[in-house]
Amino acid sequence: MKFPHDFLFGAASASYQIEGAWNEDGKGVTNWDVFSKIPGKTYNQTNGDVAIDHYHRFQEDIRLMAEMGLESYRFSISWARILPTGDGEINEKGIEFYNRVIDECLQYGIVPFVTLYHWDLPVTLEEDGGWTNKRTAEAFVKYAEICFHAFGDRVKHWITFNETVMFCGLGYVKGAHPPGIQNDVPRYFQATHYVFYAHAKTVQLYKQLKQYGEIGITHVFLPAYSVDDQPSNKLAERHANEYETFWFYDPVLKGEYPSYVIEQLKEKGWMPNWTSEELEMIKQNAEKNDFIGLNYYQPIRVERYDKDIRNEKHSRETSTLAPGNPSFDGFYRTVRMEDKTYTKWGWEISPKGFLDGLHMLKERYGNIKMYVTENGLGDEDPIIDGEIVDVPRIKYIEEHLKAVKRAIQEGIHLKGYYAWSVIDLLSWLNGYKKQYGFIFVDHNDNLKRKKKLSFHWYKHIIETRGEEL
Ligand code: FCB
Repeated sequence: MKFPHDFLFGAASASYQIEGAWNEDGKGVTNWDVFSKIPGKTYNQTNGDVAIDHYHRFQEDIRLMAEMGLESYRFSISWARILPTGDGEINEKGIEFYNRVIDECLQYGIVPFVTLYHWDLPVTLEEDGGWTNKRTAEAFVKYAEICFHAFGDRVKHWITFNETVMFCGLGYVKGAHPPGIQNDVPRYFQATHYVFYAHAKTVQLYKQLKQYGEIGITHVFLPAYSVDDQPSNKLAERHANEYETFWFYDPVLKGEYPSYVIEQLKEKGWMPNWTSEELEMIKQNAEKNDFIGLNYYQPIRVERYDKDIRNEKHSRETSTLAPGNPSFDGFYRTVRMEDKTYTKWGWEISPKGFLDGLHMLKERYGNIKMYVTENGLGDEDPIIDGEIVDVPRIKYIEEHLKAVKRAIQEGIHLKGYYAWSVIDLLSWLNGYKKQYGFIFVDHNDNLKRKKKLSFHWYKHIIETRGEEL
């Protein structure tokens, strides 16, 4: 089978991880510009001041994407380039930059798929409470409106937020992302609520504008499996799915929060403050979502665990999903299983987890349109005679694309696949330790770009529409 003609083969990036030019052309300072410069927060003190300098090299980068035959490019807009202080004056130079990126894509027939928020928040808003302050949610809607007006004639695919659980969970519970707060679970839930409110209001606005494009939200997709059939571990599995998945897709697709979680939040005194007007906004706009995005890397294997995490000290290491780490409420922990396959970073490789997870979503939400908005392998790429022979990445993507094909054959409404990432880029916490791209960036030679083996492989897959998979 070839992939359907309207299925998009893409690859992705995010503004902070590639652009650099952190203080050029009127861009405002973001939470990440500040956070990454606090000693000890990132691996080897890396930050996005220069990143891979995409801001100055976007033409070369997009030309390479075109050469690879990429059909669609998912990238994010840095809010602070458009509105340097979050909700004040517009910076025309910021608009100009993204106009050039979009036009460059279109010139090659590459479909731009735009994320409005991939974690870089104007620091003025962060300092005023960030996502725990409704002001940020209202400011986001205004920012989105400016983007729709400026780019909506050419951009027809919009993602409001990337991975709410990550920027809220790592920001308010694990403390590994800005604002770097640990164990404040009530604030974590408050922040997620304002994100869902902002999302709903943005979807409403987008539909009112009648730009005839599509809009949705992207979440990191972590389907949970119990380690065995013991009832307590089965409960851990349910708990994980309720807290990691349903909490994020229910308000967006069903217009209400999962009652399992709500009951527990009430008991624990963790309920967010919300108004009936906000809940109404979420309720009324659920049906207007055109799709959901899934960032899939791995499933989680869980077992019941009971740990009071209130005084837990988190570090960069324990902030990850690595086996042994407790969930943010201490109810379960992730487990490494002997019969599974892992990368050297402890991430499980499981295309089957993805397929099972897709069926779980279909069962709960019906046949909603979905895109894989991220999937890929971080690795220390092997270099032989100057060539980057990233065979493990090829293998990983191949296996996951096969799962995508199978899902389509089984009736799942999947319309595109975006590999993470199109080009090697800065990792939020781990600098340049691992690479993800089809295109290598040489940090020892003036950030020179070079095609990897996977570049040629993906080109072939796209050309043949995945027929050989
Ligand atoms: C996801 C993020 C993305 C990248 C990958 C590896 O959680 O969306 O920016 O860091 O992980």
